[in-house]
Amino acid sequence: MKTKKVYINTIGCQMNVYDSGRMQRLLSDENYISTSLPENADLVIVNTCAIREKAVQKVHSFLGRMKALKKKNPDLHVVVAGCVAQQEGARLIERFPQVNIVMGTHAVDQLPDLLRRVQRDGNPIVEIALTETILEKPAKTAAVPGEAGVNGFVTIMRGCDNYCTYCVVPYVRGREVSREPGAVIAEIEAMVRSGVKEITLLGQNVNSYGVKEGMTSFPELLAKANDINGLLRIRFVTSHPKDLSDQLIASFGTLKKLCNHIHLPIQSGANPVLKRMNRKYTRESYLEKIAKLRSVSKDIAISTDLIVGFPGETDADFNDTLDLMKTVQFDSLFAFEYSDRPEAPAARFSDKIPSDVKYNRLQALLDLQKNIIAANHAQLPGQVFPVLIEGESKNQQKKPAIPGIIELMGRTSENRIVNFAVPADSSLDMNALKGQIVHIRIEKTFLNSLQGVLVPVKH
Ligand code: 5AD
Ligand code: SF4
Repeated sequence: MKTKKVYINTIGCQMNVYDSGRMQRLLSDENYISTSLPENADLVIVNTCAIREKAVQKVHSFLGRMKALKKKNPDLHVVVAGCVAQQEGARLIERFPQVNIVMGTHAVDQLPDLLRRVQRDGNPIVEIALTETILEKPAKTAAVPGEAGVNGFVTIMRGCDNYCTYCVVPYVRGREVSREPGAVIAEIEAMVRSGVKEITLLGQNVNSYGVKEGMTSFPELLAKANDINGLLRIRFVTSHPKDLSDQLIASFGTLKKLCNHIHLPIQSGANPVLKRMNRKYTRESYLEKIAKLRSVSKDIAISTDLIVGFPGETDADFNDTLDLMKTVQFDSLFAFEYSDRPEAPAARFSDKIPSDVKYNRLQALLDLQKNIIAANHAQLPGQVFPVLIEGESKNQQKKPAIPGIIELMGRTSENRIVNFAVPADSSLDMNALKGQIVHIRIEKTFLNSLQGVLVPVKH
């Protein structure tokens, strides 16, 4: 069979990165190899995100560019996958006739079949059914040992039942469904065999893993993963504060491989806003959970998501958010201006916030966070952290190397990026270094990274 080339453009969250990886493996069973240039491809896939308007615009502009490519190469097949495919369905083909397949968030495993159909009869296909179960058709080709990176991702559940009023996820990813724990553990074991050292468990709300199905709970799943030989670290995203149980909090004290970091999106520090967002927790109950986490693990890093300018957000509400940030001292955060999602109820709320107010609030929030990070980072120089080496640092990849020195990059358990230099003599084996945990003393800090030196470990 002739080898064909596929170009995959992944937009959005880690779930999409994971799904793109599955598509790539399914396609390699069909004799496709990857290319980094759409111009060279026989097949272009864009795996899309609908969480904010900007992400959707990105998809539309990419599809616009594909029109020109298709003119040059009429045999090119264009596939739109993911959340925008789910949301817009056949409308995408009306607007972008160069698209051959629109496949929703539950159709990943059908990709080879859909391609065969389109190659056979040429008609465009829209496949956006939302199914009740997670289809698991593992690719014949597993990751080749040594090819996998240090970090691996595994989806443990999909969909969401929470219906936060600003959010499109329940409409484009469907109801919450958890994967069988055995399948999850087997997948992690296979990744570890191919060289993965750190695993991130993915789901919209991993805290409620298995609850609906009456299966293994999330803390139990973590404990099982903790027992896997050869795996060094475990992370998970995302947690909903309302479902963060005492048992899960306790896991940070008991599970050795569980990293000292939690991403716990609060969205707003003002109770009236949280109520209209349908978040089902209060500022006070959130702070209580933070205190519990810190009593189990004093230095646990806490990151969050925040939305500014939710409909009806007053200056006083926004100040409550700033005040909460000062209280919690988040290690890092993602902040977004609220944007209407047509399916989500908040799109129809009154008291929309003008865009200049949203912009100014976002800037004020980011300025405050810079100061918080500077204060947090001031504590770090002199401290020693175990760092899992991921590879060469960004500088090392960009700048011409300093003779005799190579700069490596890794992360602390708290998910802080650390760069450090090692002598580049002939005995340096990059592949052997990747995936090792070393001890680094922090010397300098920057907004988004730390710099340190290797310290010998006393045994
Ligand atoms: N507008 C702005 N931000 C949003 N998010 C989700 N929906 C919206 C929206 N309509 C943010 C939330 C969520 C993160 C993934 O994206 O903060 O946690
Ligand atoms: Fe969206 Fe809320 Fe579900 Fe998160 S918990 S995916 S914000 S509806």
